[in-house]
Amino acid sequence: MDIESRIEELLSRMTLQEKIGQLNQVKAPLKADEAVFEQIRQGKIGSFIMATTAHAGNDDTAITENLLINKMQKIAVEESRLGIPIIYGRDVIHGHRTVYPVPLASAASFNPELVEKCYRNIAREATADGVNWTFSPMLDLSRDPRWGRIIEGPGEDPYVGATMAEACVKGFQGDDISNKDSLVACAKHYIGYGASEGGRDYHRTEISDYNLYNYYLPAFRAAVNAGVGTVMSSFNDISGQPVTSGKKYLTDILRGKLGFEGFVVSDWDAVCQLKKQGVAENDADCAELAINAGLDMNMTDKVYINNLEQLVIEGKVSEETINTAVRRVLKIKLQKGLFEKPYCDAPEIDRTEHLKDARAIAEESMVLLKNDGVLPLSKNSKVALVGPFARERRALLGSWTLDGKAEETPNFAEAMKAVIGNNMLLSDDNIAVLDNSIARAVKADVVVLALGESEKVTGEAYSVSDISLPKNQVELIHRYKALGKKVVGVFFCGRPMAMEGVAEYLDAILYAWHAGSETANAACNILFGDVVPSGKTAVTFPKRTGHIPMYYNVTSSGRKVDCYYGENPQNCYVDSYPTPAFPFGFGLSYTEFEYGEIVSRTNEITLSDLKNGKSFNFTVSVKNTGDYDGKETVQLYIRDKIASVMRPLRELKAFEKRLINKGDTETFSFQLGYDKLGFYTENGDYTVEKGEFEIYIGENCLTTNKTTVEII
Ligand code: BGC
Repeated sequence: MDIESRIEELLSRMTLQEKIGQLNQVKAPLKADEAVFEQIRQGKIGSFIMATTAHAGNDDTAITENLLINKMQKIAVEESRLGIPIIYGRDVIHGHRTVYPVPLASAASFNPELVEKCYRNIAREATADGVNWTFSPMLDLSRDPRWGRIIEGPGEDPYVGATMAEACVKGFQGDDISNKDSLVACAKHYIGYGASEGGRDYHRTEISDYNLYNYYLPAFRAAVNAGVGTVMSSFNDISGQPVTSGKKYLTDILRGKLGFEGFVVSDWDAVCQLKKQGVAENDADCAELAINAGLDMNMTDKVYINNLEQLVIEGKVSEETINTAVRRVLKIKLQKGLFEKPYCDAPEIDRTEHLKDARAIAEESMVLLKNDGVLPLSKNSKVALVGPFARERRALLGSWTLDGKAEETPNFAEAMKAVIGNNMLLSDDNIAVLDNSIARAVKADVVVLALGESEKVTGEAYSVSDISLPKNQVELIHRYKALGKKVVGVFFCGRPMAMEGVAEYLDAILYAWHAGSETANAACNILFGDVVPSGKTAVTFPKRTGHIPMYYNVTSSGRKVDCYYGENPQNCYVDSYPTPAFPFGFGLSYTEFEYGEIVSRTNEITLSDLKNGKSFNFTVSVKNTGDYDGKETVQLYIRDKIASVMRPLRELKAFEKRLINKGDTETFSFQLGYDKLGFYTENGDYTVEKGEFEIYIGENCLTTNKTTVEII
């Protein structure tokens, strides 16, 4: 029987209560609990979330043991009337036991193939622990580094977001979602959560439909096109409409415009929060609003299981609405193969390759922001290692690390010691004993400062109002700079930190991020030249907090206040000059790349030819003129010069990362067709307009390497 027939056959045998049970997700117990077993038997639980608290990103949250997972599954399969298996979900965000860089960092790798490979590894490890479904990837576009959750997503650009969305979904779900080592993915938080006002978590958002379609939706569209099984609705409201009860968002756009066919799960307790959001008086109202909007599964607050039956009796919710939601849930369970293979046989996982991949992606994610010639360091030089992150382990894993182990994570001092042995002069990491550190540093050729932020100031419910480096760390920089030594700053951070008053004092800056299990080894490989840095930032680095929001794909202004990365910024503020510390797409290498002129095969195409599949073709040659083999990410941006609405001054539309050996020249080719030259109107219709387009191909968003083409 095919899946559709199996769904209908099951549905025809289900009571209303059993149907509602499928829409109920509850917290998984950590130990045997007879009351829970009985609910499973009665068909009242469709899914377990293996988390102990909401915003578990920085809390220890134990995983239910395999024996118990299987025991409860056995009750569902053998003792419930219809034998429908449970789907087990967990926040497996950027790693399981092996942890990969926080997503904002892995976006900086500009290497979707490697991201996909790592997410495949994550799926292998998590499924071996009984997880069927992950609440990842998080795809919230964000322009505000104060927001703690900016680290969980792909940054400020819709194209990077879409690329990473596809890579993560393919990695998690694999070629065949029914394979035992495939995880059902969940694109979250749909939609607009990253626009939380002021970067304050859980706050309201204000997003026009035009911005929604062009900026916030593309990553979700890409996830849907990649076959993502589920979507999580977001906590926020958009202009007064909570997404949790927003039919416009959950049904009209997600299903109607994006063509999503899986099921939607709410965020944690989000359905009952409709009361606090002021659109529902009681739990029954909450359930009615959410299910009628198109929200299929209710996470943790039990509002569906307690109210839907009565709502159907009262005629406020139709049974057909329930059937539709149940069909979607059953479909994913059937596609996942849970009916055939409900149990987890807990295979032993050899993590050797996973750790290698974790190191590779950490190396590719790290961004060399500044280098006045001091890097790479010689392994023979004496290095004073100082700073609060020299011995830190947990922070390197980043927020939303539930199953990675700090004690298995090498710290920076250990990693450096392994490379240069006694040439490392490890100083006390406590500012209070700075004198001692200074004394050691005097004997060193170079000072490496291990700086950064704790994972505890990133992630859910951990926003900050100031993205500056803590004062004592700034003091550390100034004190060591005053020694007259070369000072290298290695930043272990989740978000971009403000660089004013910091970058000027450092001779080199390696932004190492919270890059997972292999952060420390990767950073040392780059510092000592075993690896040539190749990361490019997928988010703008502002100079100071007051310049937020600062992002590259802005529109022009009619007045002299463009505030665009150096174009007439003097009119923006009277007290400071709001150019970025480091622009989007920026990252240095140890080698040098020289870009040739853009060669365009045709300069004009008619709109109808473009629609019929013709495209502009561009090539550019890039020569490695430096002393190292190195990888370069070549980036293509467009500007639609005159359009019916103001279009951004630059929009990333393609990139390619490739190794170029020293002395070699490589040719990069890009195509721009109908799908890349247009935009969405406020109705969600895609349109391409005639006129001139500037095409930029270069090393970051500020490249001046340009040509012009025209759609006639
Ligand atoms: C977060 C989600 C997460 C869920 C389950 C919520 O508080 O917003 O990202 O998946 O909790 O832990």
